[in-house]
Amino acid sequence: MQSKIAPSILSAKREILQKEVSEIEPYVELLHVDIMDGKFVPPTTFRPEEIKAVKTKLPKDVHLMVEHPLKDGFIDAYIDAGAASITIHAEAKDDIKTCLAYLKKKGIKRAISINPPTPLSKLSPYLDEVDMVLIMSVNPGWAGQSFISEVLEKVSALRKLKPNLDIEIDGGISKDTIKQAAEAGANVFVAGNAIFNKPDRKKAIEDLRNALP
Ligand code: DX5
Ligand code: ZN
Repeated sequence: MQSKIAPSILSAKREILQKEVSEIEPYVELLHVDIMDGKFVPPTTFRPEEIKAVKTKLPKDVHLMVEHPLKDGFIDAYIDAGAASITIHAEAKDDIKTCLAYLKKKGIKRAISINPPTPLSKLSPYLDEVDMVLIMSVNPGWAGQSFISEVLEKVSALRKLKPNLDIEIDGGISKDTIKQAAEAGANVFVAGNAIFNKPDRKKAIEDLRNALP
């Protein structure tokens, strides 16, 4: 499977977001956009207008850490902001199948995520209705947390079930953890601090890619 690197702009400087995105754009496959509602997780992040204003050739990979992706209008707002894919959480409170059907109707790539404590079985009803699964390797809410390696068991089990599905991993990915994640079967790697907290972003991305098996 093709490996893809998805820098998370949660770790970028918000005041100069366009410059931050333009700097990494030539070297990566996706742009990871973390959206939080202050309820599913305590913080809030970007407004839809801020994301819409970002000009990039990269597909915007929008990760909704929100309780009500559909009812509260997040899905519509980020489709309008240019999302190529939208990830909702299996722990969210809207009807998940309704959300996935809505995304399909709108022509948006559908993804579903589970937090570290949530078992893989929670995804069973949806696996044939998604284009990607996002396995969280930290508890969501903040960048810069330590990688929880126990989630790799879920990645390996899912890879066995779905040899051709995009499996994204998010949280604590660095040049030291990316190899284990890839060996377990992940092929889409989100990285916040490991890219935007480094002075030389091109080198930081090369370091991640060179650490892949
Ligand atoms: C966590 C977010 C992640 C986060 C990753 O809630 O979903 O995308 O920004 O940041 P790092 O790579 O620093 O753990
Ligand atoms: Zn994320």
